[in-house]
Amino acid sequence: MRKKVTVVGAGNVGATTAQRLFERGYMDIVLVDVVEGIPQGKALDIAESGPVLGIDASIVGTNSYAETAGSDIVVVTAGIARKPGMSRDDLLFTNMKIVGSVVQEAIKHSPGAHIIVVSNPLDAMVQHAYGVAKFPKNRVVGMAGVLDTARFRTFLAWELGVSVKEVQAYVLGGHGDQMVPLTHYTSVGGVTLAEMVKQGMLTQERLDAVIKRTQTGGGEIVNLLKTGSAFYAPSAATAEMVDAILLDQKRLLPCAALLEGEYGIKGIYMGVPVILGVNGIEKVLELKLTDSEAALLKKSADAVHELVEAMKKAPAA
Ligand code: NAI
Ligand code: 2OP
Repeated sequence: MRKKVTVVGAGNVGATTAQRLFERGYMDIVLVDVVEGIPQGKALDIAESGPVLGIDASIVGTNSYAETAGSDIVVVTAGIARKPGMSRDDLLFTNMKIVGSVVQEAIKHSPGAHIIVVSNPLDAMVQHAYGVAKFPKNRVVGMAGVLDTARFRTFLAWELGVSVKEVQAYVLGGHGDQMVPLTHYTSVGGVTLAEMVKQGMLTQERLDAVIKRTQTGGGEIVNLLKTGSAFYAPSAATAEMVDAILLDQKRLLPCAALLEGEYGIKGIYMGVPVILGVNGIEKVLELKLTDSEAALLKKSADAVHELVEAMKKAPAA
């Protein structure tokens, strides 16, 4: 039977994710949004690219969840971006309400689905989705680490003048400025970053600049676009996670997973390396961290924890 993926939110990230998934050809897609006409129009436009690309996959746009029934994966990109005058908590409460209602509706029709949350603030939203869905923790995962790591890999490859394919890395922690790029698990064609510094390919000063640019990578794009945030790299990252689950690829990817003591952190979702396969999060890998990395991860966890605590003060719906 063909695989089926629902993408909720037909905005920049949702529509681009739907397009990327459609172009893979091996799954059918339902694109859902609250705005009438938008998911229908975007899905029709994507479907009409089928003959040019030689793709027979089905994609439909809708404002209701009936068509989403029996989805293998529900990708949640619905939400709003922070606008001038809005506090972090305003955004948190608004998106919490949206993500909660989306998840509630989606799981009625697809009780066996995996949920991939993309909406921000990511770590808090995926935690909220987990609480609403009451699915096993392996079936609720957040997308951010793949994106943050892709940014780190891009900037490092540019700095070193090598193919992005040569750079392997992990960025862990919450999806905020306190994310933690793990430099000693970063390699370039199997060569450690420390060795690259020794070889004169990179200075510590340039490496620090790459780390800083990665941590503020989302903001850099917002400042350039002015009317929205990144969506090409986020949709590519989301589609990679969809493939990992549907094709049971057992990929080792940094994803937001519920931590229950791993890395000394309990009860919050945060970015860690996981094996992602047909059972969703099949394993959380506990890498040995340096003292400074462990301290940074703890700081990042504290920031996520603060958001989780703030969610408890959300006004009643
Ligand atoms: P966007 O504004 O282009 O699209 C959001 C869409 O959600 C809109 O079409 C809107 O109508 C829809 N929506 C709102 N309420 C809804 C509801 N109740 N049901 C269904 N649809 C609903 O925003 P964009 O750029 O697509 O970003 C989406 C979310 O993803 C934002 O929260 C953004 O911050 C987040 N994001 C997260 C990333 C990550 O790394 N986790 C990366 C990029 C974006
Ligand atoms: C990003 O990192 C906005 O979370 C989004 O681009």
